[in-house]
Amino acid sequence: MQSMIAPAKVNLALHVTGRRADGYHLLDSLVTFSRHGDLLEVEGGAEDDFFVSGHFAAHVPIGETNLVTRARDLLRETFGERAGAPVHLHLEKNLPVASGIGGGSADAAAALRLLVRHWQIDVDEVALAELGLRLGADVPMCLSSKPLLARGIGEALEELPHFPALPLVLVNPNIPLSTPDVFSGLERRDNAPLPALDTFPDAASAAKWLEAARNDLEEPACRLVPQIRDVLGALGEAGALAARMSGSGATCFGVFGSPHKARQAASILEARHPDWFVLATQTTAPEHGQTEHSQIE
Ligand code: C5P
Repeated sequence: MQSMIAPAKVNLALHVTGRRADGYHLLDSLVTFSRHGDLLEVEGGAEDDFFVSGHFAAHVPIGETNLVTRARDLLRETFGERAGAPVHLHLEKNLPVASGIGGGSADAAAALRLLVRHWQIDVDEVALAELGLRLGADVPMCLSSKPLLARGIGEALEELPHFPALPLVLVNPNIPLSTPDVFSGLERRDNAPLPALDTFPDAASAAKWLEAARNDLEEPACRLVPQIRDVLGALGEAGALAARMSGSGATCFGVFGSPHKARQAASILEARHPDWFVLATQTTAPEHGQTEHSQIE
């Protein structure tokens, strides 16, 4: 059995800078990944199957839209017999679905990596990222799972080798949001790119930089789900140095000065809002990308 964490993706900032002729939006985004995520396991079996467990299992679409089985099928289409042996796939869904932290894309990236290893297919990183992009704009960044700048529609990646690990609290009001609906609500699509990135020695300097950066999707997301404003306010009251929405929402994050402060804030938020998803975590440092998250049992 081989397993891999599919870490949550957190867009610390996301500026929408344009739109392509096919309708996809051009972005400039500072992206990090969390130590926590879903868990995907693979092992050989007599026939293919896919089983989902975990807190958010009931919300995972099963069938043609599921990105884990689509990743398996795409590898079969691409590599034929080399990807022929049947596989049991098990996804432990620990993160909320349709929530702006990469869920399905992270699961797809983990499936590509695990299955390529399971079937011993020799494929380089560029070809794997191209396959990932066919499954979704965020899959290539999830294949990296390192702090990075994402441009283009999210597929043009520049890794940030000196980015610090940041203590975060993730909060979702347990209301799913459709990504296309949020993009459709944008009033401007020609925003300025991100402010210049400095080296950040710690969480406080990263939070300071965030004052000049935004998530342009926050406004249209708040129009669809006004509770996002409550989440951002609650993170501020709990002591976050900065609080923003990630991706197309509705998950928000707060940056905290230490892991201890993040855990304390998470306890307060859980007590005050038992109906919200609350997770104290840390972003992964640059040396801990997805390839390092895996374990072989
Ligand atoms: O690529 P993915 O299937 O994850 O994207 C879901 C939807 O989000 C797209 O159909 C599109 O409406 C929107 N999107 C976008 N611009 C991006 C990424 C996603 O408009 N850069």
